[in-house]
Amino acid sequence: MQDHPMDSPELGSFGTGINAVIVGATGGIGMALAHHLDRSDAVSNLFRLSRSGRRSEHIKDLWLQMDFENEETIAKAAAAVEEVAGELHLVIVATGILHDGDRVQPEKTWRSLTGSAMETAFRINAIGPALVAKHFLPLLAKDRKSAFAVLSARVGSIEDNRLGGWYAYRASKAALNMLIKTLSIELARSFPNALCVGLHPGTVDTALSAPFQKGVAQETLFSPAQSARYLLSVLDRLTPDNSGHLYAWDGSRVPP
Ligand SMILES: NC(=O)c1ccc[n+]([C@@H]2O[C@H](COP(=O)([O-])OP(=O)(O)OC[C@H]3O[C@@H](n4cnc5c(N)ncnc54)[C@H](OP(=O)(O)O)[C@@H]3O)[C@@H](O)[C@H]2O)c1
Repeated sequence: MQDHPMDSPELGSFGTGINAVIVGATGGIGMALAHHLDRSDAVSNLFRLSRSGRRSEHIKDLWLQMDFENEETIAKAAAAVEEVAGELHLVIVATGILHDGDRVQPEKTWRSLTGSAMETAFRINAIGPALVAKHFLPLLAKDRKSAFAVLSARVGSIEDNRLGGWYAYRASKAALNMLIKTLSIELARSFPNALCVGLHPGTVDTALSAPFQKGVAQETLFSPAQSARYLLSVLDRLTPDNSGHLYAWDGSRVPP
């Protein structure tokens, strides 16, 4: 790894002329990932997808609108990306929800469970990324390394669950991890140079973690730029043999 968290990471294993997509480019980590890729000479086209669909005139800075609650927007974004880039080499889904006002709050007890909050968590954390996979996996390059990565979370690990709580978030991330594994098996059949993985970014200083940072030691709270650089370095080191699993920011494998 390089010395400074703000340095752009190496992406050497992907070669040059990389066509990259960040889904959720308005989020804390998504924005930082896009920022690193934007500064990399190896990246030719960078597509930033988000619900709000901001645009800019920068040639490498193409914004497309997409909302997980409407599959048609995902299909349209994929078609627009394919028209400009042809094939893709790096797709990172950086969306997710842990809390959203009264609609979703991490549950401390089963007494707080509501069907609507669980539905929302599953729709955004598991079903949304699966629909992105449906429309974007077919665009991955066949003859060189390519990667489809989704930001998941260590709390989605069943084996690692020692504290309990956060039912909807944990369960939706566990479902996401299963979807990633299943997608990776099908992907390997026709895209032998591609990998499909989950990534745990560490605890990162974003709007998602803000209400829950009280007990987090300062040295273990990453800035979005720092986490994004670690995650891109992990993707650079992974090979298709690593497909189907969840990897933490330091490259270690998180148990299922
Ligand atoms: N931060 C952490 O400590 C931490 C730890 C472990 C795992 N993670 C995971 O890392 C990922 C990114 O988290 P973050 O901290 O960067 O969160 P964040 O800053 O809150 O960003 C969340 C992103 O998800 C998007 N999103 C939410 N609902 C959506 C929908 N219906 N359709 C499309 N996009 C939607 C948001 O778009 P809008 O801007 O349009 O709302 C935003 O881009 C999440 O999967 C999270 O679970 C984070």
